[in-house]
Amino acid sequence: MRLWCLCSLLVLVVLGQGQEDVGGGGGGSKEMVPAMFIFGDSLIDNGNNNNLATLAKANYFPYGIDFQAGPTGRFSNGYTVVDEIAQLLGLPLIPPYAQASGQQLLHGVNYASAAAGILDITGRNFMGRIPFNQQIINFQNTLDQISNYLGATDLAQALSRSIFFVGMGSNDYLNNYLMPNYPTRNQYTGTQYADLLVQEYNQQLIRLYNLGARKFVLAGLGLMGCIPSILAQSPNGVCSEEVNQLVLPFNANMKLMIDNLSANLPGSHFIFINIHNMFKDILTNNSSYGT
Ligand SMILES: *[C@@H]1O[C@H](CO)[C@@H](O)[C@H](O)[C@H]1NC(C)=O
Ligand SMILES: *[C@@H]1O[C@H](CO)[C@@H](O)[C@H](O)[C@H]1NC(C)=O
Ligand SMILES: *[C@@H]1O[C@H](CO)[C@@H](O)[C@H](O)[C@H]1NC(C)=O
Repeated sequence: MRLWCLCSLLVLVVLGQGQEDVGGGGGGSKEMVPAMFIFGDSLIDNGNNNNLATLAKANYFPYGIDFQAGPTGRFSNGYTVVDEIAQLLGLPLIPPYAQASGQQLLHGVNYASAAAGILDITGRNFMGRIPFNQQIINFQNTLDQISNYLGATDLAQALSRSIFFVGMGSNDYLNNYLMPNYPTRNQYTGTQYADLLVQEYNQQLIRLYNLGARKFVLAGLGLMGCIPSILAQSPNGVCSEEVNQLVLPFNANMKLMIDNLSANLPGSHFIFINIHNMFKDILTNNSSYGT
């Protein structure tokens, strides 16, 4: 499956929420939002793992074969979902936290790290990675740096109009629950584990809100039983229905979490991206997507 199919779908979802001409944040007038701050895993990592001691990195050929700059650390031939979204919002490509500095921080930063999870312990088999908790601490560090350019009021204003894209959870299944060398599967049923993950996720999103985030775009989990690493374990190359079922409670809990957060956090806006249904659509209507 080629990720660009998902990209164009995701972009439609985001832009469907209405366009804003806010400017500010040090940008030009064509920008629809001041900035985008990005949290996630290998689906959207754009180079944060390059200098970590980790097996989860992609800064070498053939990654980046369709990307102008060549391999960058993106786990992709070309643009990722968030690159597409940034472009359509009129923003420049958002730099990785590991390489971002100075005024470019004003357009946003990408903190995503391959192998990262909601839980700190997730992805340990790959060694180095930046879990969501640490990504949030890195965001705090960015805010300290941005405060050299913007006063507190302007910063709060710009943040409240910026997009906070968060895509987490895949590795908490793939590189934790489903890993034979983790005890997780013996400790929790699928439902209990989804409860645990989303409770933690809830707290993490509240931390972002308390730091000034208001506009959240949250990606759910896809048909994880159909991704290449799972298909490779299937003798006849069919999706694992068991894995597809396993992640359903996570998506269901996310929707409840979003309802709850929207009701309790004044001024917040949440968009849930239903990746699961997009996957289904792409698999079923494959010819319309050229796959
Ligand atoms: C609902 O949100 C509040 C605060 O935002 C939080 O304290 C509470 O744990 C949440 N409840 C559930 C069931 O997620
Ligand atoms: C396939 O495309 C048709 C037409 O756009 C749509 O009605 C249908 O829901 C899609 N199938 C899936 C599984 O999304
Ligand atoms: C493409 O869609 C058709 C019709 O829904 C289906 O029969 C076929 O198995 C799909 N191909 C793949 C590779 O999923």
